[in-house]
Amino acid sequence: MKVLVVGSGGREHALAWKISQSQRIQSVYVAPGNGGTARDRNLINLPITNIVQLRQWAQTHQIALTLVGPEAPLALGIVDEFRQHGLRIFGPTKSAAQLESSKAFSKDFMSRHKIPTAQYQTFSDTDSAHAYVNQMGAPIVVKADGLAAGKGVVVAMTDQEAHEAIDFMLLDNALGVVHNGGGARVVIEEFLAGEEASFMVVCDGQNVVALATSQDHKRLLDHDMGPNTGGMGAYSPAPVVTPEVHAKAMRKIILPTIRGMKSDRITYTGFLYAGLMIDPNGQIKTLEFNCRMGDPETQPIMMRLKTDLVDLLWAATDPHQQLLKDFELQWNSRTALGVVMAAHGYPLQPRKGDTIHIKASDSDEVMVFYAGTIDTNGILQTQGGRVLCVTALGATVKAAQQAAYQAIDDISFDGQQYRTDIGYRAMRSKR
Ligand code: AMP
Ligand code: GLY
Repeated sequence: MKVLVVGSGGREHALAWKISQSQRIQSVYVAPGNGGTARDRNLINLPITNIVQLRQWAQTHQIALTLVGPEAPLALGIVDEFRQHGLRIFGPTKSAAQLESSKAFSKDFMSRHKIPTAQYQTFSDTDSAHAYVNQMGAPIVVKADGLAAGKGVVVAMTDQEAHEAIDFMLLDNALGVVHNGGGARVVIEEFLAGEEASFMVVCDGQNVVALATSQDHKRLLDHDMGPNTGGMGAYSPAPVVTPEVHAKAMRKIILPTIRGMKSDRITYTGFLYAGLMIDPNGQIKTLEFNCRMGDPETQPIMMRLKTDLVDLLWAATDPHQQLLKDFELQWNSRTALGVVMAAHGYPLQPRKGDTIHIKASDSDEVMVFYAGTIDTNGILQTQGGRVLCVTALGATVKAAQQAAYQAIDDISFDGQQYRTDIGYRAMRSKR
């Protein structure tokens, strides 16, 4: 069969790479893809991003299954568009994707369905928002209501930082983020302490299959210093997600979310990603929902997945919701760990056009997944913030880490930035 993967990041490269290994595959298209997917002999880049044009193309080219990587096309309704024309596509509808695209929607949803999350209030009026911060005090978290590509959250350790974030997001609407009703809105919520983990599942609207656990590193610099990013590295499994935490996440967060959506008359299909905050007593709260896989978490997760991904996605898009019910996933028991190499100036002003030199070749043990790259006449150059995710398997976290950094020694581009401590939390909790 022919499969289409929508997106251009490292996550989409990893998903397309895994899909291309399926026995059932004739061709795998990536729209629009990147310089790395262009070079991959098993993948074909398709330079289309418009949703209607993609749907028309999928119809003319008999695409059997489409998988959507990023949140933006989901929030624009790509799933609705494809389904209205009888095309099989894996992802949430526009209305279901509000769990990610609107912080206010997802917070109201969680509070209505008693899903554990931080206390919060929503504001569109600047004075009331400032008054709320004065009343609650720092540390406190200010979130823009809308998709802001990871830039819409300020964890304020002082009242002043919180006041500044409110003025930035609400008064000046400097992020240019608007919610569904138009205009800027912020959610202000209680600061949660603990350790974060990424909990992702596959859902057909009724049945749920959990993927392997993972953890990413959001800050730019070693020791979790510097600004927040989309993620500088990740590994799977995440030891902090013990069997007890896993069971709790399913029982208190994932299943009530799927059921709650259903009772709100929204069928949730697609990947669902709950960002968990796990406190020292093992109590969990939901930091956020994403209606897609995480990037870079996908890269190590795909390295470990033994099951045919097309079989999984086919089951998850079964219109009769029968195939996913007893679906069991097989995982490589080893650890996979991915280190992101980012461009000069990331995350604020990533530089484009630096030539990338790679000596390492891909294998079952080490994969270079490409993100912000472009292939110009056979020369691979940087084209975005996160450029590569070098991902390796190892018998232990330490071994996977060593293998990933060893591969990085054979890769270079001007201005490259990467953390040297990816995986440190997993090693600490193993001890
Ligand atoms: P979000 O996009 O909502 O996941 O927020 C991005 C990041 O901000 C999270 O991964 C956390 O590191 C941090 N964060 C968000 N909400 C909170 C909270 N209530 N308490 C502490 N940290 C938070
Ligand atoms: N790595 C976090 C995310 O994809 O949202």
